[in-house]
Amino acid sequence: MLTKTFTRSLAATLVGLALAASVHAQTKSHVVVLATGGTIAGAGADAANSATYQAAKVPVDKLLASVPEMSKLADLRGEQVFQIASESFTDEHLVTLGRRVAALAKQDDVDGIVITHGTDTLEETAFFLNLVVPTDKPVVVVGSMRPGTALSADGALNLYNAVATASDRASRGKGVLVVMNDEIFSGRDVTKAINIRPDAFKSPWGSLGMVVEGKTYWFRAPVKRHTVNSEFNIEAIKSLPPVGIAYGSGNVTDVAYKALAASGAKAIIHAGTGNGSVSAQVVPALRELRSKGVQIVRSARVTGGGFVLRNAEQPDDQYDWVVAHDLNPQKARILAALALTRTTDAREVQRFFMEY
Ligand code: DGL
Repeated sequence: MLTKTFTRSLAATLVGLALAASVHAQTKSHVVVLATGGTIAGAGADAANSATYQAAKVPVDKLLASVPEMSKLADLRGEQVFQIASESFTDEHLVTLGRRVAALAKQDDVDGIVITHGTDTLEETAFFLNLVVPTDKPVVVVGSMRPGTALSADGALNLYNAVATASDRASRGKGVLVVMNDEIFSGRDVTKAINIRPDAFKSPWGSLGMVVEGKTYWFRAPVKRHTVNSEFNIEAIKSLPPVGIAYGSGNVTDVAYKALAASGAKAIIHAGTGNGSVSAQVVPALRELRSKGVQIVRSARVTGGGFVLRNAEQPDDQYDWVVAHDLNPQKARILAALALTRTTDAREVQRFFMEY
């Protein structure tokens, strides 16, 4: 026979547990997963195919269903924004995605956003969103290096980690983040440094932290302007001006630079050797293009730490050129295009490159 006291304490415990469960349910973050394609949605013919597969095959609902453990982290829902390999992203895709992220971030019933994305241009999308989405809510871009059909596939844990990061209030206010291989990177400076390994993503300035077993651990925070502190806003951007990239090397000529300008490029990013050096065979053409209003931005094919120093390899003040600072050519293209939505003054463009 249960004593009255025991019965009362059992009832009180059950009520307490029910309350705790309901409070937890109410406090679970609401996270939206925007799927765009890539290897994380890829499928190969054989489990041994870790690098030979078709990207952009698995729909977002199947992606979410493949990692049921995520339901303990957040209330999730998915949207299929695109289903493409990321090397095929265009500036129109960037603007469309940016508009959707900004609209969701405004909603009170959205606490965080995850974007699944091919890894080839993931760094460009993450940087673009870092510059144009005015929110301090977590926005996390994630991909995978192996398709879900492969042995030791990395996509499921990367996605779980991305949802954990997007659900965590500690992730707020750090700009757009990239989660890959247990690390949390700033979308500003992370790059795909290796082409077929799960540890492909690196930042010359290191990761911001790690996510382990559903929890985030932070060690640094970004110092460059982003999101709510950015002068760029996707709501004011209809399209991006065309900007091209030309690669420096031995025996280089000015053909590519002239062709880019002839095709309508409003800025040319020079992926220079060394410290953004420009061949003597190319300098006259770049000076002439500048005189015709084309912005010239000196980046470098050398990445992994350091930055292009203004007026070092070339007299940038005299030529009215811009240096990309530490941004690699593909990131410099994004910032140059956004800068040109606000100015054609090279000194103002340079200010953007020093502050963002
Ligand atoms: N086609 C590449 C892409 O969509 C595959 C690379 C990947 O997603 O890991 O970026």
